[in-house]
Amino acid sequence: MQKSLILPSASDFHIHLRQDDLMNMVVPRIAEGGISLCYVMPNLKPPITSTEQALAYKDKLEKLEPNVTFLMSLYLSPDLTPEEIRKAKAAGIVGVKSYPRGVTTNSDSGIESYTVYYPVFKTMEEVGMVLNLHGEIPSDIEQDICVMNAEEKFLIHLKQLHNDFPKLKIVLEHATTKAAVEMVKSLGDTIGCTITIHHLQLIVDDWAGQCHNFCKPVAKFPHDRKALRDVILEGHPRFFLGTDSAPHPAHLKECAQSCAGVFTTPLTLPYLATIFDSFNALPMLKSFACENGKKFYSVKEEKCREIKLIKETLPVPNSYPFGDTQPGIVIPFWSGKTLTWKIDQ
Ligand code: NCD
Ligand code: DOR
Ligand code: ZN
Ligand code: ZN
Repeated sequence: MQKSLILPSASDFHIHLRQDDLMNMVVPRIAEGGISLCYVMPNLKPPITSTEQALAYKDKLEKLEPNVTFLMSLYLSPDLTPEEIRKAKAAGIVGVKSYPRGVTTNSDSGIESYTVYYPVFKTMEEVGMVLNLHGEIPSDIEQDICVMNAEEKFLIHLKQLHNDFPKLKIVLEHATTKAAVEMVKSLGDTIGCTITIHHLQLIVDDWAGQCHNFCKPVAKFPHDRKALRDVILEGHPRFFLGTDSAPHPAHLKECAQSCAGVFTTPLTLPYLATIFDSFNALPMLKSFACENGKKFYSVKEEKCREIKLIKETLPVPNSYPFGDTQPGIVIPFWSGKTLTWKIDQ
């Protein structure tokens, strides 16, 4: 039985770091989880839609945690212009994230169309920026579309975009289905895919009635979880870690309409090693969490360090407190459970 594992610090290619009190709690905990590079989501309030906003946010993050590399993204909106894309690229901003609501303009019978954004995508392809897709279409009762098939029904849009912009690097974020894994595998080298920690563990039964496991896209069927695990076991180079760690204050999850999001940042590698070990995937941990993403994004990293994981029990805290003036707590994934791997400090 393997008892320890030496790795370079890992990269998280999809993370929500929030702002204000939550940001102040989360950012100093990134390194604790074994992460030294992260790709930061732009869905703040208000969303990050300009180069200036992204740079101001990056500055705050770096002041809170100088030992982590922050790669920044913009939020796709109809206001984003080819000029802004060039400016963003020159300022070192790496990509643009598209959310479902942003893609509904010019929609034809409820199916979104991206054509309004084609001049922006063309420029991104030219300058070498990455397009990050939240791959779900909006629910539509008439069309029998709901959270269980919203991702699968989205996949034709991924295929179309790849066809229209073959040199544009596109990442299908937080894949949750066998259909998504198969689609990504069938496409070319410019298509990558992130997988979260929690989607390697959860199925629909685990979030129906359990608000702390509720996230978007929702966890699906056992065969979907198996497909995510299988593509990792296969060591496919275009699949990599993007945790989608998304903290919300406990009271906004434990209520009638729970916010979507699972918080994993402080224990990223301990969770991942524990889950990988459970399906005999530890030999794939290094490529999945430390190598594949950086290769896909063509990024080099200066802040990498060595991490030693050891097979010892580690209790997951019940909660993480945050905020001075208005104190609150965030409940982490698997709170109160015990992990089987931890980082040797
Ligand atoms: C939004 C989403 O994914 O569309 N967030 C969420 O579900 N919690 C993004 C947003 O509205 O900023
Ligand atoms: O579960 C999720 N939470 N999915 C998302 O796409 C957004 C995220 C958040 O920001 O809370
Ligand atoms: Zn998303
Ligand atoms: Zn996200």
